[in-house]
Amino acid sequence: MKSFIKITSIFVLIVALVSCNSEQRNRKVQYMGDTDMYDAIPYEAYSADHPVFKNGMSAQAPVEGTIARGKVPYDYMDNEAGYQKAKDSLISPLKVKAPLDSIYRVSKANLAQGKHLYDIYCATCHGLQGDGQGDLVKNEKFLGVPNYKDRVITEGSIYHVIMYGRNLMGSHASQLNAKERWQVTHYVEQLRKDLLK
Ligand code: HEC
Repeated sequence: MKSFIKITSIFVLIVALVSCNSEQRNRKVQYMGDTDMYDAIPYEAYSADHPVFKNGMSAQAPVEGTIARGKVPYDYMDNEAGYQKAKDSLISPLKVKAPLDSIYRVSKANLAQGKHLYDIYCATCHGLQGDGQGDLVKNEKFLGVPNYKDRVITEGSIYHVIMYGRNLMGSHASQLNAKERWQVTHYVEQLRKDLLK
């Protein structure tokens, strides 16, 4: 009995070792009815034999002028001329006019969201009131932060500065999407108005 167990275990060991040998893995028989699992039907994106497009590839560069979903193009350059142009001409899409109203206004919801985001991303430097006395300034970790009331700024210039930053201030374009930048912009305008009272 003992030798039977011995022989059996040696046999099992050999089978295990042999089946681990990759050279033995050449596929001879396809068990599956159809061959889709082995030979892909879809065109390979980067192979050169796609019949539809001239260059043979199915993965094409987007058509010129294509705008990625959720992205808003921004045509102002990251320089002084771009800053001036935005300051003079860039208009917020969030201001709407109610029927019988002659003034374009920002909704309370947008301002509330603007405050929420401002308190997170801007107040550390600019202060909750926009007076330039954020925690980083009070602790002398960051200097040169202005009080909004001392700057001549417009909705266009504020948006531009969030987009690209300015001097010591960095860009916040990756933290805030286009709509959020406008929400923060309008909240900054409101803070500035209150500071000027
Ligand atoms: C790390 C500190 C810091 C943070 C965070 C920060 N700023 Fe600034 N910000 C500055 C400094 C410094 C300046 C002065 C830049 C200069 O030299 O004109 C400035 C300037 C500005 C100005 C005036 C620019 C002009 O046209 O004169 C605006 C508006 C502004 N920031 C808005 C924001 C908003 C909105 C946020 C949040 C999304 C923000 N900042 C976050 C440091 C910061």
